[in-house]
Amino acid sequence: MLFESKLPDVGTTIFTIMSRRAQEEGALNIGQGFPDYPIEPRLTELVAQAIRAGHNQYAPMEGIQILREEIAGKLQRCYGGKFDPGREITVTCGATEALFNAIQTVMGVGDEAIIFDPAYDAYEPAVRLAGGRCVRVPLPPPAFRIDWDRVRASITPRTRLLIINSPQNPACTTASAGDLAELASSIRDKRITVLSDEVYEHVVFDGERHHSVLGNPELRERSFAVFSFGKTLHATGWRTGYCVAPPRLTQEFRKIHQFNTFSIAAPLQHAIAGFLHDNAASWLNLSAFFEAKRELLTGLLSASGLRTLKSQGTYFQLVDYGELADCADLEFCDRLIREAKVAVIPLTPFYAEPPRMRLVRLCLAKRDETIREAAQRLVQFAAKHA
Ligand SMILES: Cc1ncc(COP(=O)(O)O)c(C=O)c1O
Repeated sequence: MLFESKLPDVGTTIFTIMSRRAQEEGALNIGQGFPDYPIEPRLTELVAQAIRAGHNQYAPMEGIQILREEIAGKLQRCYGGKFDPGREITVTCGATEALFNAIQTVMGVGDEAIIFDPAYDAYEPAVRLAGGRCVRVPLPPPAFRIDWDRVRASITPRTRLLIINSPQNPACTTASAGDLAELASSIRDKRITVLSDEVYEHVVFDGERHHSVLGNPELRERSFAVFSFGKTLHATGWRTGYCVAPPRLTQEFRKIHQFNTFSIAAPLQHAIAGFLHDNAASWLNLSAFFEAKRELLTGLLSASGLRTLKSQGTYFQLVDYGELADCADLEFCDRLIREAKVAVIPLTPFYAEPPRMRLVRLCLAKRDETIREAAQRLVQFAAKHA
């Protein structure tokens, strides 16, 4: 090797591994988080129109003006306050790029970022590439609540970033207004920036609503908030998202964005801007859309021995298989793929230090027929192993 690996212990993500295994075994994939149903026909039309209209060259680095204006309007409607499309909103290649840029913007060699355990897998490698390290605060299952005393005890003079994710993947929990107040008070007067991953902002169940850092004036002043059109428009392959941050943070963020992706696919931006303009109902109904799928899946699995935990948000559902098997989750997932022909996601890869638990993650962003078929196979598997 002519150079040393910067991420020697990082392999292929668990999502790719399980999806590949699902294909090899001809299993139904209800693990990885992507819809198996089509996008809105109107979006397809709008993107074709944008290409025909000649929007095929570099878009502006920060995103096209009309899209940033639509985003500003949407943010104001959802979280109150005014957002400057010129200085506070940047369109990115999915939330993933926004997360990466924000982390590179803030973190330097020897710096610490507080993240939670379990956490979405994109945070830690980006922190390490910046020369920093993650300090993980456990979220104990099955409630996965944040212990703010523990967060405060984890802050050191080297802490520069705190990464919060609500609704949380994979725990399926949501942060309350009280959590955000604790967050604000824990970092007040400290040199700590917040990176708030809010890609599931529109998927919050049981009549609750999403609490964004953008709705908390103190946090808004010091946060990067990251969103995904992939999640909101059921179009994960479009790789479109955006980052919202105060002007002084956005200025630094864009320095990284312009030499990372520079700008995002122009026709997609035009299509999304057109769609946002007159289709607010599509995201306002997302919670109800996924809640119906949660009810369908949990209903079908009830009494199977696979116990569903209450999902508060995200398009995922955790299932406890402890009554059926006492093996590690990777092994259980492998058995499900081979024997039940259903692929799900184990939880331990989301952890630095996994506790003892018997949980796997299922994805609700599937057609009702897919959910029914998967549930039937799981119920049969459970009956065999009860
Ligand atoms: C918590 C969380 N953050 C970020 C992302 C990445 O979003 P995108 O596909 O827009 O890059 C995902 C995707 O699964 C996610 O679950």
